[in-house]
Amino acid sequence: MVQYKRLIKKGEKLRLSVKEEGGSGANVVAVSGGGYSKTTKQKILFIIFLSLLSCCYIFSFSSFSLLDAFSREVKGFGPYELFIAPLCSGTSNGTICCDRTGFRSDVCIMKGDVRTHSASSSVFLFTSLKNKITITGKIKPYTRKWETSVMQTVQQLNLVYRDEKNNYLVSVDEHNNNICDVFYNVPAVFFSTGGYTGNVYHEFNDGIIPLFITSHHFNKKVVFVIVEYHSWWVMKYGDIVSQLSDYPPVDFNGDKRTQCFKEAIVGLKIHDELTVDSSLMLGNKTILDFRNVLNQAYWPRIRGLSQEEELEAANKTGKRVQEDGFKKPKLVILSRNGSREILNDGLLVALAEEIGFIVYVLRPDKTTELAKIYKCLNSSDVMIGVHGAAMTHFLFMKPKTVFIQIIPIGTEWAAETYYGKPAKKMRLKYIGYKIKPKESSLYDEYGKDDPIIRDPKSFTQKGWDYTKKIYLERQNVKLDLKRFRKPLSRAYDFSMKRIGPVYSSHKPDVTN
Ligand SMILES: *[C@@H]1O[C@H](CO)[C@@H](O)[C@H](O)[C@H]1NC(C)=O
Ligand SMILES: *[C@@H]1O[C@H](CO)[C@@H](O)[C@H](O)[C@H]1NC(C)=O
Ligand SMILES: *[C@@H]1O[C@H](CO)[C@@H](O)[C@H](O)[C@H]1NC(C)=O
Ligand SMILES: *[C@@H]1O[C@H](CO)[C@@H](O)[C@H](O)[C@H]1NC(C)=O
Ligand SMILES: *[C@@H]1O[C@H](CO)[C@@H](O)[C@H](O)[C@H]1NC(C)=O
Repeated sequence: MVQYKRLIKKGEKLRLSVKEEGGSGANVVAVSGGGYSKTTKQKILFIIFLSLLSCCYIFSFSSFSLLDAFSREVKGFGPYELFIAPLCSGTSNGTICCDRTGFRSDVCIMKGDVRTHSASSSVFLFTSLKNKITITGKIKPYTRKWETSVMQTVQQLNLVYRDEKNNYLVSVDEHNNNICDVFYNVPAVFFSTGGYTGNVYHEFNDGIIPLFITSHHFNKKVVFVIVEYHSWWVMKYGDIVSQLSDYPPVDFNGDKRTQCFKEAIVGLKIHDELTVDSSLMLGNKTILDFRNVLNQAYWPRIRGLSQEEELEAANKTGKRVQEDGFKKPKLVILSRNGSREILNDGLLVALAEEIGFIVYVLRPDKTTELAKIYKCLNSSDVMIGVHGAAMTHFLFMKPKTVFIQIIPIGTEWAAETYYGKPAKKMRLKYIGYKIKPKESSLYDEYGKDDPIIRDPKSFTQKGWDYTKKIYLERQNVKLDLKRFRKPLSRAYDFSMKRIGPVYSSHKPDVTN
């Protein structure tokens, strides 16, 4: 262990000492380790120094040129700060600016020579320290700022000014000047895949959609740097991530190399539940633009899946086209087990078929490939499910299709806030089906006179924990199918109007 670094700023008693393992193999150059002989190391440093100089030379030239400024305009690179961190509009080169006015997240912008230093959880901005108040900014790049407990699990990043006079110098007492190991001539966006990641609602709401909001204007010319990095997350969301960035994501803590960028956004901008507010977006982008990203992300994989299925189904006869020349609308039941199950789902399937739907039951779990769920829902006319995180998949439905959310007692607020409203914003035909007490398993358990049944508000008002323990974790649904027939028929009529007749098709429709 070598204690090697002190950061002492003029006029300020900031002192940061950093401990680091000496000579760990991966950090070949940047880290002053014990492992290498000084001369070899200095030679390497010198070479890197030279190559960097040439990089920077080219970079500074190009970024000053009018042509480049012009192409930035044209591509809509634009004045994104106004949308991502309004307080930081007009941030000049060589400065760090944080906008902490958001209720859900803080966002900082660093312009200029940005370099990572993961050993000290820091991101440095090398600049002239003259006339600058060099207060260190601290930020947790996660979008649930108001939830103290979950924020405690998120890594805090220090955003630190460093004097550019020490730039590239290899002095005797300060070996580590954060020489760039990897130099990107594009900006970085820093964010966390920790917190509640692991739950699909949170993955989209707190992560993927804010990532789209924060980075789409870069036209993929951006690097994602992730704290609380999980390789499963990168696997699961790789298709989407690669629609937003041309570069593989960087594991901030796992990759100790100094990564250099020409600017950085630290933290993600978020608008509202599962949505994109076009009035807050550069180029008026909407949630449908986000959906287009999903569509492009899954298209190659789905094409592959479809071909496989066509081969398998080559000999089956299509059921989708009826004799009268109408295509049956496709209804998908997103089913859960454990809690909030539909106890009579067999009867529900029968009823839906009787009404005229072709019915699929989908049971997604954590390991289900998103492309497969997307394929199923993108070709569906109606999606039904009991309120819960899986309803997030309404994002995979096409606009003007139907989403019926079954709302167990005591969950009205959450169902409407998290899924009902956002679904309407995505222009789905949304039907919220509030169950009657008798359709709840809690009715059998507690009886009609228990406050749990009679007066759910008296519990849910006490806090989310009550909602969760009583109404979310322990409630199942037994649909009154006489009652449920009504929304189902509405969904059918609505879908038939949208689909219309398909006169020409007598061939079996094997792809659906
Ligand atoms: C911004 O500042 C950095 C460091 O001072 C410098 O290397 C870079 O060329 C500047 N970039 C622009 C676009 O002025
Ligand atoms: C975005 O919307 C605003 C207000 O509706 C409008 O003035 C502006 O022209 C739109 N911009 C684009 C790029 O469509
Ligand atoms: C989703 O459905 C639309 C319309 O049917 C189709 O054009 C698109 O290719 C589908 N997306 C994917 C990824 O298969
Ligand atoms: C389709 O059925 C025929 C006759 O039953 C069989 O010979 C052929 O191999 C089948 N094709 C596929 C793709 O399964
Ligand atoms: C959910 O269903 C799966 C497969 O049918 C089963 O293995 C699992 O134990 C069930 N989980 C619960 C909580 O019932």
